[in-house]
Amino acid sequence: MRRGIIGLLAVLALVFAACSESTGSDDTTAATTAVTEAPPAASGDGDSANGEALYGGSCIACHGPNGEGIEGLGKPWVGSEFINGSTDDEMVAFLKVGRATDDPLNSTGIAMLPKGGNPSLTDDDLQDLVAYMRTLNT
Ligand code: HEC
Repeated sequence: MRRGIIGLLAVLALVFAACSESTGSDDTTAATTAVTEAPPAASGDGDSANGEALYGGSCIACHGPNGEGIEGLGKPWVGSEFINGSTDDEMVAFLKVGRATDDPLNSTGIAMLPKGGNPSLTDDDLQDLVAYMRTLNT
């Protein structure tokens, strides 16, 4: 019991020391602290910046510059219940197969080809595309 209390005090002392270091007034320390505390850019495993680049090459022609869709070519991503209601893994699985015109979920009468018609996209690429997709659906 006594050991436990001493251990706790030691931890508290360390935490206190760490806190007082990071509140130091010198600018370098403050900048380092800010970088360390910045939240991750996006949730999930995908790299949204790479996803955006892939989007520009493989999806933008039908889904528009910011995912707002292009009439007669591709459905809007922004505000999509299908996208918002699916997990990242479900989205990757969807992208692999696309949505044929005879699929009951197809609402445009136009096919979404597997991988948007670009078979060279890897699973990682699809994950990155989903990460980018999430930045449009907030
Ligand atoms: C040749 C045009 C075309 C290209 C290129 C294309 N899509 Fe599509 N996409 C469509 C169409 C059309 C639909 C809607 C099908 C329907 O009516 O359900 C669609 C639907 C989708 C949906 C489902 C949206 C929803 O709310 O149901 C996602 C997600 C999607 N595409 C992702 C992609 C990604 C990622 C790429 C690039 C790798 C891509 N698409 C490239 C035409 C395209």
